[in-house]
Amino acid sequence: MNHILRNAADRLRAASVESARADARILLEHAERNGLDFEVLIRRRVAHEPVAYITGHKEFWSLDFGVGPGVLIPRPETETLVEQALCELPDRKQPYRFLDLGTGSGCLLIALLKEFPNAIGVGIDGSAAALFWAEQNVMRHGLGHRCRFRKADWAEVDGHFDLIMSNPPYISTADAAGLQPDVRDFEPEAALDGGQGGLTAYRAIAPILGRNLKANGIAVLEIGAGQHQFAGRIIEGQGLTIVRAKPDLGGILRCLVVRKPLGKP
Ligand SMILES: C[S@@+](CC[C@H](N)C(=O)[O-])C[C@H]1O[C@@H](n2cnc3c(N)ncnc32)[C@H](O)[C@@H]1O
Repeated sequence: MNHILRNAADRLRAASVESARADARILLEHAERNGLDFEVLIRRRVAHEPVAYITGHKEFWSLDFGVGPGVLIPRPETETLVEQALCELPDRKQPYRFLDLGTGSGCLLIALLKEFPNAIGVGIDGSAAALFWAEQNVMRHGLGHRCRFRKADWAEVDGHFDLIMSNPPYISTADAAGLQPDVRDFEPEAALDGGQGGLTAYRAIAPILGRNLKANGIAVLEIGAGQHQFAGRIIEGQGLTIVRAKPDLGGILRCLVVRKPLGKP
């Protein structure tokens, strides 16, 4: 068995796959558990298909999420948004209303609905393929009665919310071309490409926060490396307050925490 694993890891390494040994081990376990042909799985990984698409799932906030082509694979740094929302809303029993802009797999919204047993949530995404996975995941976690998804542009959102969360596409068009092939060639462009400077989504989302947050409501927004001042200025331009910028575990400022002041209509 060891030589099968070693041989597979060598082939992945030769194809410039990072974490070759760990990937080979995950794929071997997946093949054995599901009666699949390990060779076929390794060939897919040699072609740089992400492990999570091959196995069909990914962990986020210690919950299991179904994923596949057409939806962004949840990233560990996005858990910073969950932590910050928990920090700002200490009373877990409140019947809060949550909104997730660009819900993708639904990982953020589902993680927070699990933490707030009386909250309800709406997830918006422009991608039908992404929403397919969000619907699967909300059923998997038994939250269908507290969560609904809508296929729409986020500009069309209505209603008032205690918490708005978003991990929008924020990679600049110039940088998107230089992403690793695992990401660039497999994950959806609409989830990655944030236009010139990577800030297009924040310009669209800032007025939505101004309009659709309740007074004193909060927002948690994911940002890319070096974007906190630019994104922060766009948000403040709507009369909103930046409470803090919080780093992820790698030390990169990853989450803007925003509050709508009490007096603002
Ligand atoms: C970076 S992904 C985030 C997915 C998920 N929230 C997560 O954190 O893993 C951004 C998502 O926003 C969606 N999106 C991009 N532009 C949009 C728009 N104008 N209206 C609605 N959804 C949009 C994409 O389809 C994608 O699913």
